[in-house]
Amino acid sequence: MNPEVQQMYESLKAKLGKIAPDVELRYKAELAVEINRLKKERNAVILGHNYMEPALFHSVPDFTGDSLDLSRKAAQTDKDVIVFCGVRFMAETAKILNPTKTVLLPAAKAGCSLAESITAEDVRMLRKRFPGVPVVSYVNTYADVKAESDICCTSSNAAAVVESLKAETVIFLPDEYLARNVARETGKHIIFPTPGTPNFPDSTLDYQLIGWRGRCEVHEKFTVKDIETVRAQFPDVLILAHPECSPEVVAASDFSGSTNAMIRHVQQTKARHYLLLTECAMGDNIAAANPDKEMLRLCMVRCPHMNMITMEETRDALKYNRYVIEVPEEIRVRAYRAVERMIQIG
Ligand code: 13P
Ligand code: SF4
Repeated sequence: MNPEVQQMYESLKAKLGKIAPDVELRYKAELAVEINRLKKERNAVILGHNYMEPALFHSVPDFTGDSLDLSRKAAQTDKDVIVFCGVRFMAETAKILNPTKTVLLPAAKAGCSLAESITAEDVRMLRKRFPGVPVVSYVNTYADVKAESDICCTSSNAAAVVESLKAETVIFLPDEYLARNVARETGKHIIFPTPGTPNFPDSTLDYQLIGWRGRCEVHEKFTVKDIETVRAQFPDVLILAHPECSPEVVAASDFSGSTNAMIRHVQQTKARHYLLLTECAMGDNIAAANPDKEMLRLCMVRCPHMNMITMEETRDALKYNRYVIEVPEEIRVRAYRAVERMIQIG
């Protein structure tokens, strides 16, 4: 083994030796060294979302983090190329913020069920129906939806963004559960108008949030029953849920926050056992970083989109300059306003 690969292998072994077979770590150490060489050659930065698989997460990203964090890193970089190890809406957000850079998404089809749940036309229809009501869009949307929005938010600043508008009524799109969780946190009454039915009101009466019925296909799978079962067996367990989980699941948990907030909470807790209700690769990453604490496994849900970002695809992204993310300039400048406002709110 060449000394560079040997060093990478040892570093991966120290972090992941308990969760990945040796043969995989040796193979991935070789890939990581190749990716890091290409990264240098192309003057690239690699951004890795917290949901990346453990070997990738621990070897090639210059920065890891949640959506908000990585948007800020994308905006600040002076490298020529941004490789986004995440999903399409994240890579688009990087392009919106830093348009002169080449932004690469290693898997062309890495989407998101939330981003797929709403179109720019849907937002225009809501604006017509609720004139003057500001629109907050979750960052998990495509650029054309962001362009129709007043401000974006992420799971780490959603309630703060809504409060910052100081508006009587706010349209909050497209995640039903995140909207319900924000409504709960801010004490607002929420409705979900269904276009084309009598339940589609034309005035803003007594409700303060207007939601949409998008769902994260991963987080909607967790149930209160899961929590009760685990608590029956481990009464002292600390349960953390991502705010894309249902409000019932969030209410039955001990903590809810963005992926970064969950990572920090596990680092700081004194609890002996913890359970994460989120994408399971992140569980492996947190377990590797906290060997003194025991993570309980309820790992049945890998995000199929995040799962498309492999080390092989990341290498090929740099090698073959693929898949280049483009956002039409007319959409980008409008989306930029909404995203820029979002990154100002912590
Ligand atoms: P974070 O902003 O918490 O990283 O979440 C992004 C996401 O897609 C969660 O499913
Ligand atoms: Fe989208 Fe859910 Fe995957 Fe996050 S975990 S990228 S919200 S489908």
